[in-house]
Amino acid sequence: MSADKVFHSRSQGIPSEGVKDQYADGKAARVWKKYIGDSNQRTKNYRDFLTGLLKKHGCVRVLDAACGTGIDSMMLVDEGFKVVSVDASDKMLKHALKARWEKRKDSRYDEWVIEEASWQTLPQDVDGFLPGASFDAVICLGNSFAHLLDEYEDQRTQKMCLKNFAKVLKPGGLLFIDHRNYDAMINSGATPGHSIYYNCKYPVDIKTSVLVVRGKPELVALDYCIDATDDGLITEKSEFRLCYFPHRLHSFTRMLDDAFDNRAQHSIYADFQPLERVDNPAYYIHVMQKALN
Ligand SMILES: C[S@@+](CC[C@H](N)C(=O)[O-])C[C@H]1O[C@@H](n2cnc3c(N)ncnc32)[C@H](O)[C@@H]1O
Repeated sequence: MSADKVFHSRSQGIPSEGVKDQYADGKAARVWKKYIGDSNQRTKNYRDFLTGLLKKHGCVRVLDAACGTGIDSMMLVDEGFKVVSVDASDKMLKHALKARWEKRKDSRYDEWVIEEASWQTLPQDVDGFLPGASFDAVICLGNSFAHLLDEYEDQRTQKMCLKNFAKVLKPGGLLFIDHRNYDAMINSGATPGHSIYYNCKYPVDIKTSVLVVRGKPELVALDYCIDATDDGLITEKSEFRLCYFPHRLHSFTRMLDDAFDNRAQHSIYADFQPLERVDNPAYYIHVMQKALN
């Protein structure tokens, strides 16, 4: 289901990568920095979870496949990882490039690579600017993968993109990929305003709309309203809409296993904790370890 058939979700702008970009009008990209809060202050649970597993598995070279404004990447650069960051939205990348410029006196940032790429053509795109590169880990976090809607109603593009993530990983490498708890959102029609990733200091209200086509939930539209009126710069509430494919835990798990030819070790976490410890998580985080041969 293409969002534009039902909802007006984005401007007419198409980024240079050519794939559909819900951030193309620059509205969400501008407000995103308010939503994600101080880039030096990722939630401790998230930082410990991600960097802990990366270090445990000896990962050095990490591809952030949905870097957006660069917030996850900067956390990893600060922790000493060699980071390559890509995104399909030039409107989002603009903020990451600016952040790198602002850190130019910090030598850890000298090797931070930021390029345009889309998941649909990831191996070719990466090969274009880093010939022959492969990674110890790929991350696609912050509910990013669900941005990819299901235009052909058979999830073929999503399957291809997951295979592309597997392709750019070294044998034994890790893929971290997440999605909101769409099972709960479909049942309740509500989305928690607080994110487990970000330290947003403003009140966030998220209106949830679920589009059901022929009895099947095909699309979730979230209308974010961030009340940042008291920071002296923004004079009105910031609102933007993003549309998502509502991945259900069971079917996403199967699709991921297939993308790795059913040979990867697959661990699932709920809000960064073991699955059985959290009753109704906001997010599911999948960690795939690619087979060694
Ligand atoms: C929710 S933002 C998350 C960014 C960042 N990880 C964070 O937590 O702030 C999702 C990002 O995925 C990117 N994205 C969506 N579809 C993409 C695609 N097909 N290829 C590459 N990036 C894509 C968007 O441009 C956007 O920057």
